Amino acid sequence: MLIAPSMLACDFRSIGDEARRALDAGADWLHLDVMDGSFVDNISFGPDICRAIRDSVPTGTFLDAHLMIDAPDHYFPRFVAAGASLISIHAEREGEVDLHATLHAIRESSVQCGLVVNPATPVEKTFSYLEEVDLVLVMSVVPGFGGQTFMADTLEKVRALRRKREERGLHYLIQMDGGIGPAQAAACRRAGADCLVAGSSTFRAPDMAAAIRAMKAAV
Ligand code: DX5
Ligand code: ZN
Repeated sequence: MLIAPSMLACDFRSIGDEARRALDAGADWLHLDVMDGSFVDNISFGPDICRAIRDSVPTGTFLDAHLMIDAPDHYFPRFVAAGASLISIHAEREGEVDLHATLHAIRESSVQCGLVVNPATPVEKTFSYLEEVDLVLVMSVVPGFGGQTFMADTLEKVRALRRKREERGLHYLIQMDGGIGPAQAAACRRAGADCLVAGSSTFRAPDMAAAIRAMKAAV
């Protein structure tokens, strides 16, 4: 199980130190929640902060950029330039944004790509994109804020994505994001998740390394 602490929950006064603290505690990836105040009801940070994090961590650190923004097609190149390793875009923008073209363009930039579904969005929305993605992210809270309660009914989407992956012989990773800590990790693993995003339960834990270990060990 990969653990991706969300930088949204870190102490922004020393974001570089916080990124290194997460890696020292055993984080596999760092998760960057990018919010534009329109697609979600909050504003977080953009490409310049992504670059600051990139410049603070060892070469090769995997930066997972989750774009909760209206125009991922317009902005993703700036996150590529800022050193993102993977860029995820939301399925809810289908119709407004050409998702096939955007996913393709992200990959053409030599960066991995992911597709995200909100709790209210049926997982079937991802099915025509599965051949084109490196990761599918199942939101287990309504995006916008850290510290919310895990929605267990989203686990069914993870099971469905696991089945589809097998049926079609694909290799995308299945990630979950929102309200996850050691108490939720076992259910996520049993449903078939490969990667867990965790904000509050890592950065705000008394012992981040212990929290990450507990999530990795959950069965
Ligand atoms: C929600 C974000 C999540 C969130 C996770 O909008 O996409 O990554 O920050 O934070 P916790 O783990 O506190 O729910
Ligand atoms: Zn996220």
